[in-house]
Formats: sequence, structure tokens, C-alpha cells
Amino acid sequence: MYNKYNETLNNLIHNPHKWLITGVAGFIGSNLLEALLKLNQNVLGIDNFETGNIKNLEEVKTLVTDSQWNNFKFIEGDIRNFDTCRNICSGADFILHQAALGSVPRSINDPISSNNTNIGGFLNILVAAKDANIKSFTYAASSSTYGDHPGLPKIEDTIGKPLSPYAVTKYVNELYADVFARCYGFNSIGLRYFNVFGKRQDPDGVYAAVIPKWIQSMIKNEEIYINGDGETSRDFCYIENVIQANILAATSDVNNQNQIYNIALSDRTSLNQLFNFIKNVLSRNGIEYQKNPIYRDFRKGDVKHSQASIDKASIRLGYHPTYKVEQGLEEAMPWYINMTRQT
Ligand SMILES: NC(=O)c1ccc[n+]([C@@H]2O[C@H](COP(=O)([O-])OP(=O)(O)OC[C@H]3O[C@@H](n4cnc5c(N)ncnc54)[C@H](O)[C@@H]3O)[C@@H](O)[C@H]2O)c1
Repeated sequence: MYNKYNETLNNLIHNPHKWLITGVAGFIGSNLLEALLKLNQNVLGIDNFETGNIKNLEEVKTLVTDSQWNNFKFIEGDIRNFDTCRNICSGADFILHQAALGSVPRSINDPISSNNTNIGGFLNILVAAKDANIKSFTYAASSSTYGDHPGLPKIEDTIGKPLSPYAVTKYVNELYADVFARCYGFNSIGLRYFNVFGKRQDPDGVYAAVIPKWIQSMIKNEEIYINGDGETSRDFCYIENVIQANILAATSDVNNQNQIYNIALSDRTSLNQLFNFIKNVLSRNGIEYQKNPIYRDFRKGDVKHSQASIDKASIRLGYHPTYKVEQGLEEAMPWYINMTRQT
């Protein structure tokens, strides 16, 4: 089968480019960094460590060669500062904008902070990118934009009303991106991620995502909690699929820009199934979790089911996810076991 992704990777290795990753010390940003450095690309990264961690960068350093690491430059800075954005965008070929305050509950508790970073910071980067002579601008959008629309699978053009301040911020990003194409002819690509998981996703804190939180608790033999009856389902997407999508989007033809793409597996896993997947993968790693989950109330702002159609990304970008949920859990598990034992 013709494989656009392999061809793209091959082209990049033979013709390195300059990349800017915002939010580079975060979960997705640091995985993008690792992948790009392994392809001998030059990367500039920015982060203010609000939710990211220097340890993520230190870990990437151990996973690449010295000469690959020397192709990385890090700036500790804040995308809420426009001058900083202008400086980092100048000279970049491809921008992968990941910096944001994630988490629906965080945005419900503190909508102003989410707005300032996710909308104010986004606009700063967008303006700076427009004014720099870049080849492409790809940004992290979100499945939360589907809001209260009940239709399944989710198709890019059909969205509902946002259910949280976080969802508003991510939708406003898409509106700005579209308006920048109309007003300035500046094209960008929004990747609507669906529940991404993998190594370096933070398991700690009240705003942790379900997969890292459960894995860590189950390794420590602590109780785990399910919000609702466990039949809530999500389209969990392993990080390698998200890396593929970013690289394909960044290098895609101009005709595929000024577009939004769902990035997911196009599958549905209920929380009850997820619990069993994690339990089984832990067991294969010699850890037997004996407890049952504790069920409690549904969470505010959560939708009951989510599943993406990925037809658009497949047809236009050549995106074909290579990891299913259990394969992703299998690959990420040794990292979580090591990390939990070190703490
Ligand atoms: N993880 C998911 O399932 C998921 C789903 C949909 C969308 N997204 C989006 O993907 C992106 C990356 O998410 P993640 O899961 O890696 O989260 P993360 O919190 O691990 O990474 C975000 C990074 O951005 C940095 N950051 C925050 N505010 C900043 C600021 N003002 N200036 C500079 N850096 C700042 C943080 O310190 C962090 O390192 C975010 O835009 C998020 O909204 C993630």
C-alpha cells in the first residue's frame, strides 16, 4: 500500500527543516520533540512549565543522540507575551502549536486563566506566525468543540454548543484560524485531538487525564473512581497516531490547509472496557490489580459518548492510525511502571 507517512519521514530525514513547538515540555509537545529530533530536524521549543515539566525534556535528551539533542533549542517563555511569540516564530518553517491549559474541569474552576492562555496566547502566536515567512501552521484543536451535538461518529462540519469554557477556547481558535485565512490569506490546520494518551502524560494533580491517573493508581494498588456508570465512551488515541497526524499536516499540500481534521482512532472504548484493558496489560507486566472501580456521579461538562470519523484526515492528509488502544497501553506501560516506582 502507498504510505504517505513513510514517504514524508524519508523526505524529512534527507531534507531537515526548522520546527517550532509551543508547549514543548508538555505531554504531546515532548513526544513531538522526540520524534522530530530522531528525524534529525532542527527544533525550537517554548514552554513556561505551567503544566509541563523540565523532566520531560531531560528524558527526551536520554532518548536521542548528542548531535540530535544539539539540534534543539529551548526557550523558557510565555505565549501570553506577544514579543516572545514574534521572536520564536521568526525563522521557523513549520509551527506545531500545542501550548494551552488543558482540562475541562480546570476551565470550569478558572475560566479566565484558560481564556488568557488558550485564546490570548493563541492569537499572539497566530499573528506572529502570519507575519513570519513560515511554511505551515498546525495547532492543537479539540474534540470538545463537538459539545452537545449527539451525532456519532463526529464529522468535522457538524458541531454543537460548547459544554465548558475550555471548549469555547478551542472553538475560538478555529474561528480565528478561519478568519485569518479570509482576512489575510494565512492558512493553518487545526487537529481536533480525541483523548490522547501515552508516555509523559502527567498522572498527578486534580486535572490529570483518566488513563495516566488510573494506571498510576492501579500500579500503587489504590482505589480508582469511575464518573458515571462506566458506559461513557471515548475515542482514545495513542500518541504515535498524533505524531503522525502532526507531521503529515505540517508538510501537507496547501490545498489541504485552512482545514480542521479529527485526529483519533475512530473507535469507541467505554470506561469499563478501558479499566479491563489496563488491568490486563498490567497483569502481563506482572502487576495484579484486585480491586473493583468505585462508581460515582457523572462529571459536569462531560459528554456521554465520543467517536470520530477520521475519513477527512485519511483522504486528505494520508493519516492512518497504526496503534489501537490496547497496543498503545502495552507500549506505554513500562514507562508508567518505571515512573511510578521512581516516585
Ligand atoms: N491530551 C489530550 O488528550 C488533548 C486532547 C485535545 C486537545 N489537546 C490539546 O493538545 C495540546 C497539548 O496538550 P497536552 O496533553 O500535551 O497538555 P500538557 O499540559 O502536557 O502540555 C501543554 C504545555 O503547554 C505549556 N503551556 C501552558 N501555558 C503556556 C504558556 N502561557 N506559555 C508557554 N507554554 C505554556 C505547559 O506548560 C505544557 O508544557 C493542548 O493545546 C491541549 O489543549 C490535548
